[in-house]
Formats: sequence, C-alpha cells, structure tokens
Amino acid sequence: MCGIVAYIGTRPARPLLIEGLKRLEYRGYDSAGVAVLDPSTKPAKIQLAKAVGRVGNLEERLEGTTWQGTVGIAHTRWASHGGVTETNAHPHTDDHAGIALIHNGIIENYSVLRKYLEQKGHTFVSETDTEVLTMLIGELYDPANGVDLEAAVQGALREVTGAYAIAVICKQEPDVIVAARKGSPLIVGIGNGEYIVASDPQAIIAHTAQAMTLDDYNVVKITRDGFRTSTIDNVEVTPKVLELESELDEIDLGGYEHYMQKEIFEQPAALRNTLRGRLDMKDGRVVLGGVSAFAKDLVRARRFIMIAQGTALHAAMVAEYLFEELARMPTECEYASEFRYRNPIVDEGTVVVAVSQSGETADTLAALNEAQDRGALSLGVVNVVGSTIARETDAGVYLRVGPEIGVASTKAFTGQLAVLTMLSLFLARRKLMSPEAAAKLQDELADIPNKIEHALGLAPEIKQITERYIQHENWLFLGRGVNYPVALEGALKLKEISYIHAEGMPVAEMTHGPIALINDGMPVVFIANQGAQYDKVLNNIAEVRARGGHVIAVATEGDRHIRTMAEDVIYVPPCSEALSPMLTVVPLQLMAYYAAVARGHDVDKPRNLAKSVTIE
Ligand code: G6P
Repeated sequence: MCGIVAYIGTRPARPLLIEGLKRLEYRGYDSAGVAVLDPSTKPAKIQLAKAVGRVGNLEERLEGTTWQGTVGIAHTRWASHGGVTETNAHPHTDDHAGIALIHNGIIENYSVLRKYLEQKGHTFVSETDTEVLTMLIGELYDPANGVDLEAAVQGALREVTGAYAIAVICKQEPDVIVAARKGSPLIVGIGNGEYIVASDPQAIIAHTAQAMTLDDYNVVKITRDGFRTSTIDNVEVTPKVLELESELDEIDLGGYEHYMQKEIFEQPAALRNTLRGRLDMKDGRVVLGGVSAFAKDLVRARRFIMIAQGTALHAAMVAEYLFEELARMPTECEYASEFRYRNPIVDEGTVVVAVSQSGETADTLAALNEAQDRGALSLGVVNVVGSTIARETDAGVYLRVGPEIGVASTKAFTGQLAVLTMLSLFLARRKLMSPEAAAKLQDELADIPNKIEHALGLAPEIKQITERYIQHENWLFLGRGVNYPVALEGALKLKEISYIHAEGMPVAEMTHGPIALINDGMPVVFIANQGAQYDKVLNNIAEVRARGGHVIAVATEGDRHIRTMAEDVIYVPPCSEALSPMLTVVPLQLMAYYAAVARGHDVDKPRNLAKSVTIE
C-alpha cells in the first residue's frame, strides 16, 4: 500500500528519496512522486515531480534535471480516492502557504472539509482526500501569529477523522519536516545529523538501525539538530526508540529471479528460525517467552478468537482446528473486517489472537482494539518486530521468518502455521496432553523444515505440471480438515499473481454447486494426503474425473494408489495430519509462482495488490 519516505540531513535528498521509494516498491502502488525544497531562494522553492506507474517512470521524468536541497518528501500511491493520475499522485501542495504533503491512509471527513475550504476561496486540482488535508494545513498556517508548520499540522489533525501517516514540508520553513500518524504506520530513522521518516523500516535500514516509533495522534517536528514529539494537542511526549532488526542482505534477491521465489525456497531456513529455542524436547513443553507470563490466563481461558485477513486468516483457520483438536480449546476464526463491525460477544475468559505478517493491517488492528475494549486478553502472532499490532497486544509470538517482500505471502504463512502450532501445543501440554505425546509432535515439528526442503526438490516437476494447465482460466482447490484452509490459500495464491480465477473450498462442498462448473479439462487441485478422511477425498476425485475435470493431487509419498485416480500427482513427505499444512501448501505456492511466470506477470508487483493494507 502507499509508501512514505522523507529526508532531512546534509546529503542531497533526491537520490536518497528515490532509493527509499524503490525499497518500498514491493508494497504495491500505482504512481509515485517526490518534492525537495531548494533552499537557494528565500522563501525556498518546492521542486516537484510525479509520474503514473513505476518509480522508474519518475526517474525518467527527472532525467537531465538537477535539484538542490537536503530536505524532501516522496511517496508511492495506491489509489483510493480518485483515479490513478499524475494530478492525484502525491506530494500534494496547497495554494497559499507553500506546503507539500504526502499521506497514507484515508481522511474520512474530507468532503465536509473540502466544502469548508472551497467557501474560503481555495481551489482544488485533484480528487483526493490528501489535497484537502494539505490545503487545511495551509489555511491554518500563520507564522506571524505563532502558527508555524508544527502548530498548523496539529491544528489540522484536530479537525480530521480517519487514518493518516503524513510528512509535511513548507517553503517558508526550509529546515523542518513535520510528520504525524494515526492508524497508519510511520517510523523515524535516527542517523548522524540526519533523519529518515518512512512508513516501513525497509526504507530506513540502509542508513541507520536506530529508529523511533510514534503512537497514534503523535506529531514530530524534525530539524537537523533534533526533534520534538508532541500530541496533536501539543502535549510533549517521549518517543520510544528501537533497533531495527532487518539485515539488508535479507532483502536482496540473492540470485533468485523474484522475491516470491526466494521466499518460497527460504522456508526451511525461515522455519528453523521460527522454531529455534522454542521446542523443549525433554519435557514436551513449548517455550514461548513472549506469552509465558500469561500462561495461566491462557490455560484458564474459555475460548479463543482468531482475527486476521488474507493469507494470515488462512493460517488462523488451520489453528482453529489445532486449538480444538490438540488443546480442546473452543476457538473461532473470523475476518477482522467482519468482527470489528458486528458487535461481537467478548466475555471474560476470551483471548483474542491477531495474526498478521505486517502487524499493520488496518482491519486486524481495529478488530483487535475492539476486542481489547471489551476486556479480551490479546495476543499477536506477527512478523514485523515493533509493528503496531506487536506493540498493542498484551503478549505475543514473533514469526522470525525475516522480511517478506513478495506481495503474495509464502514464508509468513508457514511461519504463522509453525507459531500457531506451537501455541496450540503450549496450551495442549498444560491442559491435557501427555509429555510423551507432546514430545512426539514437537519432534515431528522440528523435522518439518527438512521435509519442506524435500518438497521443494520437486519444483521442476511442479513447474512442468503447472505449465500444462495455464491456459485454463478457472481452477478449483479442494481440501478437508486442516487442509481446507490450505485449499483456500492455494486458490488465493493463484488468483493474486497469475490472475487466473480460482476457488478454494472444503472437498465435500464441491457437490453442492461448484461441481456444475467442471467441464473438460478444468484443473482441480485436491489436497489428498494421508489423513483421517483420505478415502472420502478419493471418492470426490472420482466424481471430478467422471465429469472430465483434470485432477492434480497433492499426496503423501508412497501412495501409489492415488496415481490410478489422478492425472498428476505431487508428493509431499509423510507427517502427522496436524502438521501437514506446512507441507501441502508448498506445491501450491510453487504452482502459483510458475503459473504467473509462464503467463508473463510481474510476480512481485501484482496488479492492484498491496503488501500491507493499511486502509479499510
Ligand atoms: C494483504 C496482502 C496479503 C496478506 C493480507 C494480510 O492483502 O496482500 O498477502 O495476507 O494483506 O496482511 P497481514 O500483514 O496482516 O498478514
């Protein structure tokens, strides 16, 4: 989703800002822009350029121009209000005070504010909510009467409802950046005599590992000599400073063609990290430092509610089975976007688990806050360290899978499964599971990274199988039990990057309608590994074959019988059913990847998608 980078320091701002935008490209966007203050005139001049499409287009636009200046802001936009046009791209400027602003989020009351500002004589050029906020700051800006940029930003933000992360510059104050946030991520990298404001650590870590986080309604005024953090009501606050963890080489392609490919193949190493130090074989106990202080509350809890969106929801859906099956803990799983608006029943004894790679998904965060207000104990299962959900939950477990850049989530999914499996064992062992049974599952869990490695060895075969079917525009993915959410995930992966229409569903649901779709050659992917309901899955495979569908089965190594049932078989190593999603999803990730490559799509920057959805 939209990306923010702003710089104040002693180095030329423009190249640094462009480089920062490139680091944010993976988030998904459709236009880009940059503004740098030229201090050689008084007041300073705002040098501004925007372009539709890639950051590369913006660079082309800038070719042959030289800009002065060491203070600037830059943005990648993912259109919400107003189409994808250069005019709607950020930075936006006001018509009076010389303000330029970039914004992530949505100003909900923008139409009322726009009317008010139009009555005051302001003329708008774009259709965006962002221009309204820019104009409002300009309207309030009155340095002669003590309303400097910081005060004008505070004043404007007191008037707006909605979500924002913003960075603002003003030609009358050429040595200042003002930034603020509410409901959208924003951090400030602290360098040596320089500061980089960004919506994502990736734009900062090349320059400094030290950063401060802002809470909602915080405003920060930054100069080269330091900063002042306050609330929108101008009450001074002390910001939290943290060390950014990401290593730069983790976000380089390292010989792979795409981030998604790299992240799929990284899964064995990523999961070893997730599991490291957390499995205590002797005693059959899972060691989760981030939740151990709440162990008693978790064991005594009456029910768990998992909230998430997208891929994270699919991981949570697997966990719903595991929590009930292994720990006998009543568990529900719901789209955060639905949960937050339906007056949910959250009584004492409810634990809410927010599952999120980024830790910034707007709906997940809002649902979490809703549950917290109603008294739930909250846990985060999050990848990005220091993200909002990680900070706002009572306790949690990090995925530790490293930065995920590919928009289609892969290693975060298996990381979420590993963490949620450990959480279910954490509870199960304390509630009812014998040390022996728990140790046995832990043993198997520890071996999952090796088995994923093995499954990845079939990549060339999976590529060949996939390429045989890519001309088909409709696919089905079917699974049962813990592999039903994996079927949903397989369909989602294929949709996201290959733009093939795919549906995932429980195997038995097929007969209740979707079977009508099956015609000659339609690819139907069955997750048919050995498990409690294997025989039932075989029956459904027969039904699909009888109607001319092409069956691709993900099956357990050693299962010869399935070869007589399905046209194509992709084998994964045997393992307990509860752990199987971490294996069965791997071929589906690879199928989606190879389908997208074969269809010539930009795998890491799929159309219309964003890595982290920070608006509703
Ligand atoms: C977006 C991404 C998905 C992701 C979902 C939830 O839709 O494109 O890949 O699964 O958001 O994101 P989160 O960061 O909360 O896991």
